[in-house]
Amino acid sequence: MVVDNKATITYVQLLKEDLVIIRLVPKDGPVPEYQAGQFITLGLPNPTEGGKIVRRAYSIASHPENRKYIELVIRWVRKPLPGRLTTQLFNAKEGDEILWLKPTGRALLINETLPNGEPDKRRIICIGGGTGLAPFVSFAQHLHAVGDKREIIVLHGASYVDELSYKELLTELEDESKRRGKDEWNFKYRAAISRPQEWFNRSWAGQVGRVETFLRPREAGISPLEELIGDKITKENTMFYVCGWQGTIDGVMDFLKPKGFITEHDKGPDGNFQVKYESYG
Ligand SMILES: Cc1cc2nc3c(=O)[nH]c(=O)nc-3n(C[C@H](O)[C@H](O)[C@H](O)COP(=O)(O)OP(=O)(O)OC[C@H]3O[C@@H](n4cnc5c(N)ncnc54)[C@H](O)[C@@H]3O)c2cc1C
Ligand SMILES: NC(=O)c1ccc[n+]([C@@H]2O[C@H](COP(=O)([O-])OP(=O)(O)OC[C@H]3O[C@@H](n4cnc5c(N)ncnc54)[C@H](OP(=O)(O)O)[C@@H]3O)[C@@H](O)[C@H]2O)c1
Repeated sequence: MVVDNKATITYVQLLKEDLVIIRLVPKDGPVPEYQAGQFITLGLPNPTEGGKIVRRAYSIASHPENRKYIELVIRWVRKPLPGRLTTQLFNAKEGDEILWLKPTGRALLINETLPNGEPDKRRIICIGGGTGLAPFVSFAQHLHAVGDKREIIVLHGASYVDELSYKELLTELEDESKRRGKDEWNFKYRAAISRPQEWFNRSWAGQVGRVETFLRPREAGISPLEELIGDKITKENTMFYVCGWQGTIDGVMDFLKPKGFITEHDKGPDGNFQVKYESYG
């Protein structure tokens, strides 16, 4: 039988009508141990289903070194019908109780070693579509907290500028990288807005199109991502992590497959792979 733990919702930041950042603090013990890239399962009894507990997975945006709370970024699913858990979550208030199951998930764990046992020193490129950014907010804060020296790039794709949920935090991490120098902390953050023609997005001056367009080569055969890092991306020098719609994963692989990149799911007998992903179908 599943035994749910209890937590208090301690912080609710509504970014827009259907996008929220929430923080949870366990009621009966410390913040659980977890690894960057994992998800937690939340649950609430649903009154329209006779109090049956509806449970759903949410990627953790906070990092394991933060022992104060678990942070999540959640979309209210409204179409074609209001989502069973998110509709309740969007009615929840600071101080309310919520149920949780311990963090888990292996799809997006940060690769630390190569199949030959040597440390994985490849640059890390994280591509998050929408709320699929969450695991990479955890990655960035974790790699920062442990003083990781690898080059790290976080790319976020959103339809609207007010959905760039962690712009401030990630911009600050990049500013710190500029101040301290890349030998100390080597971090960059960029976003792509996929509906640039809409009036609400008129202030956007960055990349336009879906987030995978960062990988599309321009005239000189160099992609905006390669321009940003000032290097050619190869399967020897770069490891990709992708989270979002299956279309985002497929779009990324359309660019990477011809360069010989393979996902962890498709790895061969030598154990090598250059892409990890979690898709939300
Ligand atoms: C590993 C993992 C991590 C995740 N991380 C996040 C995250 O960080 N942030 C986030 O926002 N989400 C995340 N999700 C998605 C999340 O788990 C839920 O799937 C999502 O919040 C929707 O849950 P819900 O109960 O509100 O919707 P559900 O009730 O499960 O509805 C799902 C879909 O079905 C439709 N539907 C429901 N009932 C019917 C019906 N009777 N007929 C037709 N259609 C129907 C709904 O309109 C909706 O489109 C993650 C999922 C996974 C697997
Ligand atoms: N790990 C997981 O499984 C996980 C994690 C987070 C969220 N989710 C779930 O995913 C759902 C929606 O996510 P969201 O609201 O965060 O995304 P979103 O804001 O609707 O979309 C984010 C970006 O992805 C693009 N996009 C939309 N559909 C796409 C497709 N089929 N192929 C490629 N790109 C696409 C959008 O472009 P356009 O502007 O062109 O639409 C936008 O740029 C929610 O139900 C959420 O609960 C799952």
